[in-house]
Amino acid sequence: SESLTVGELAKKLGREPSEIIKKLFMLGVMATINQELDKDAIELICAEYEVEVEEEILVDKSDLEVYFEAEDEALLQERPPVVTIMGHVDHGKTTLLDSIRNTKVTAGEAGGITQHIGAYQVVENGKKITFLDTPGHAAFTTMRARGAKVTDLAIIVVAADDGVMPQTVEAINHAKAAEVPIIIAVNKMDKPSANPDRVMQELTEHGLVPEAWGGETIFVPISALKGEGIDSLLEMILLVSEVGELQANPGRRAIGTVIEAELDKGRGSVATLLVQDGTLHVGDPIVVGNTYGRVRAMVNDLGRRVKDAGPSTPVEITGLNDVPQAGDRFVVFEDEKTARQVGETRATSALQVQRSEKTRVTLDNLFDQL
Ligand code: GTP
Ligand code: MG
Repeated sequence: SESLTVGELAKKLGREPSEIIKKLFMLGVMATINQELDKDAIELICAEYEVEVEEEILVDKSDLEVYFEAEDEALLQERPPVVTIMGHVDHGKTTLLDSIRNTKVTAGEAGGITQHIGAYQVVENGKKITFLDTPGHAAFTTMRARGAKVTDLAIIVVAADDGVMPQTVEAINHAKAAEVPIIIAVNKMDKPSANPDRVMQELTEHGLVPEAWGGETIFVPISALKGEGIDSLLEMILLVSEVGELQANPGRRAIGTVIEAELDKGRGSVATLLVQDGTLHVGDPIVVGNTYGRVRAMVNDLGRRVKDAGPSTPVEITGLNDVPQAGDRFVVFEDEKTARQVGETRATSALQVQRSEKTRVTLDNLFDQL
């Protein structure tokens, strides 16, 4: 729910609540410190202060991030990039994800049975890369709307026989809005009708000028179906990641985002988490969105039980009291008691937001009162 109380908004803006109340009064609204404001009303107030409303400030009621200690620069280490694959329908996203996984993961694994956990890791030239196996758009829209930035890099797949299509443009816009670097994978190069020049031409019109034409965008020709160009693509991912200097501190308590979650008949609440900083351990007291618990068991993307999961690692956990939502943030706590308290407070305040929805100040009734 996108709302804040007057008091919360004042805090976010670094102002006294009385000042916000006065502003609202000037707009014809009598408000108290605990009054809920909706997105439009918040935007109106923010405009008064010439502050841009980021979606993030509207979502997390009792900001989990505040429980996470400040970063110690000296302890930062390089972490693997987290990559999302996007593109138009049928341009080969799933085939590419499968191709990367098959050539890079299954090859060295006994049995070759990979568990589907919504994300996986591969190793290229001794360096790990994490791929989110969720529909790319979901990773950007749902997760971003919930205040989570999970992706470091976007691969946009464009079929060389079809060219730039509406969802290609949509994907470009998502990636640009999230300010993540874009790599273009020109797919289906094995097809006789493949026309990569046309793809480059069309993308240039969208501001993505290929390096070959003096621009900055990396284009990699591939055939996801035949597994061609996959290594070059992975190398480019690593190259672009290095520029980004992606870092994390493996020594601290873990923090990250829910990739997906569900209720399993046998195991209860099962959540796939992406550890974004710190290391997650079995037994850790944890708050995940509005749920909490202790990490009972962890399974990695190969279906193996693990005890620890470091930065940029996707891992499936059990042990939560309820099912969180994709895009929810998680934070590990020092002790179970605090985790429980915070989890319960968050669950309660989420309920209250639902209930107060009806009595909120909306832009409509704000103007009614003017
Ligand atoms: P949606 O999930 O529906 O958006 O599609 P997608 O982007 O995941 O495409 P998908 O991987 O399902 O591929 C669509 C079709 O294109 C399938 O029939 C693939 O076999 C085919 N395809 C994908 N990559 C290639 C390729 O490199 N060459 C050829 N010839 N066909 C490909
Ligand atoms: Mg697909």
